[in-house]
Amino acid sequence: MKLLVTGGAGFIGSNFIRYWLHTHPQDEIINFDKITYAGNLENLKDIEGNKNYKLVRADIVNHDVVRTVAKDVDVIVNFAAESHVDRSILDSSEFVRTNVLGTQVLLEAAKDFDLRFYHISTDEVFGSLALGSKERFNEQTPYDPRSPYSASKAASDHLVRAYIHTHGIDAIISNCANNFGPYQFPEKFIPVTITNILEGKKIPVYGDGLYVREWLYVEDHCRAIDLMINKGTLGETYCIGGMTQDVNNLEVVKKILKILGKGEDMIEFVKDRPGHDRRYAIDWSKAKRELGYEPQHDFDTYLAKTVQWYQDNQEWWQHIKSGEYKNYYATQYGNE
Ligand code: NAD
Ligand code: TYD
Repeated sequence: MKLLVTGGAGFIGSNFIRYWLHTHPQDEIINFDKITYAGNLENLKDIEGNKNYKLVRADIVNHDVVRTVAKDVDVIVNFAAESHVDRSILDSSEFVRTNVLGTQVLLEAAKDFDLRFYHISTDEVFGSLALGSKERFNEQTPYDPRSPYSASKAASDHLVRAYIHTHGIDAIISNCANNFGPYQFPEKFIPVTITNILEGKKIPVYGDGLYVREWLYVEDHCRAIDLMINKGTLGETYCIGGMTQDVNNLEVVKKILKILGKGEDMIEFVKDRPGHDRRYAIDWSKAKRELGYEPQHDFDTYLAKTVQWYQDNQEWWQHIKSGEYKNYYATQYGNE
C-alpha cells in the first residue's frame, strides 16, 4: 500500500510514520508537509534513510501539487492542520486556510483518484462537558465547537461527511482525545510543563487549573488509526480515547512535579484562555466493538516515560526553543 500522510512532520504524524514503517515495513509513505513552525524534520531523523519513505515539502492547499502526488497513492491519512487553540485565538486565518480549504483540496483529490481518505480530527468539535458530570462524547454527540481551532476542524469534518454523502468517497473520520508522548511541540500543555521544569521556569496553569482533558498516549492513537485503516467501515466515524478518568490540569502538573522531584512552588496560575472548554471525555466503546481498539498505555506509567523522553532528548526541544530546528530542512535538503 502507498500512503500519502499529510502533516507527517508534526507530533502525531511523525509518530504515525515511525509506527507504520515499523509495523508495515512493506508499505510506502509519502510525507506531505509544508513544514510550518510546527513541522520539525528532526522528529524523523531516524526515518530519513528508509527507502520506503519520501518527503514532499508542500502545502495541502496547493491543488496542483496535491494532485501530482495523490494520483499515485492508495490512501490519504490527513494529519495536516494548524493545531494549537491559543494560536487560533490570536489569529484564526491560517486555521481556516489549512484546516478547511486544505481538507477540501485533499477531498477533491480523493474523489478524482478514488482514494481512501482517513481524516484525523478532534473531540474538541463536540464542545465542552460539565465538570463533575458523567457525560462523555460519542459518535452521536452533536457538533458544538467553541474555539476557532475546533470550529475549523468541525468544518473540515463536515466537508468529509459531505463528500461521503454526495460523492460517495471512501472516507473515515476519527475524533480523538488530547495526545501526549514523545515529539510533542513544547507549546502544548504537557511538554510546556516538563520543559519549563527542566529549565527551572514556572509552569503556567490557566485559570483555576480545574480543566479536564482525556489523555491518549500517542502510540495508542497510532494503533487506533491502523485498526481504522484495516478494519474500519468506510463512511463511519470513530471516537478514540485514552485511559484517564477526569484528571485535571493541576493534577497533571503535580504528577509531573513529583516525577521530577520538584515542589509545587513552581506552579504559576496565569490568566485564563478565553472561551476555555471545561472538560473533555470520550466514550470509545464503538471503536472497541467494531475495531477491537482499547488503549494499552496507562497514564501514570506513560506520563513518567514521556518525562524521561524529554529528559533524554533535551537537544530536540532546545533546538525548538532556540529556533535552530528551522534550519534542519536547509541543511538536509538544501535551500528551496
Ligand atoms: P502538529 O501541529 O504537531 O503538526 C501539524 C503538522 O501539519 C506540521 O508538521 C505542519 O508543518 C503541518 N502543516 C500545517 N499546515 C500545513 C499545510 N497547509 N500543508 C501541509 N502541511 C501542513 O499537530 P498534531 O498535534 O500532530 O496533530 C495532528 C492532527 O491531529 C491535527 O489534524 C489535529 O487537529 C489532530 N488532533 C491532535 C490532537 C493532539 O492532542 N495533538 C488531538 C486531537 C486531534
Ligand atoms: P493544550 O495542550 O493547549 O490542548 P487543548 O487546549 O487543545 O486541549 O491545553 C491542554 C489544557 O491545558 C487546556 O485545558 C489548557 C491548559 N493549558 C495550561 O493550563 N497552560 C498552558 O501553558 C497550556 C499550553 C495549556
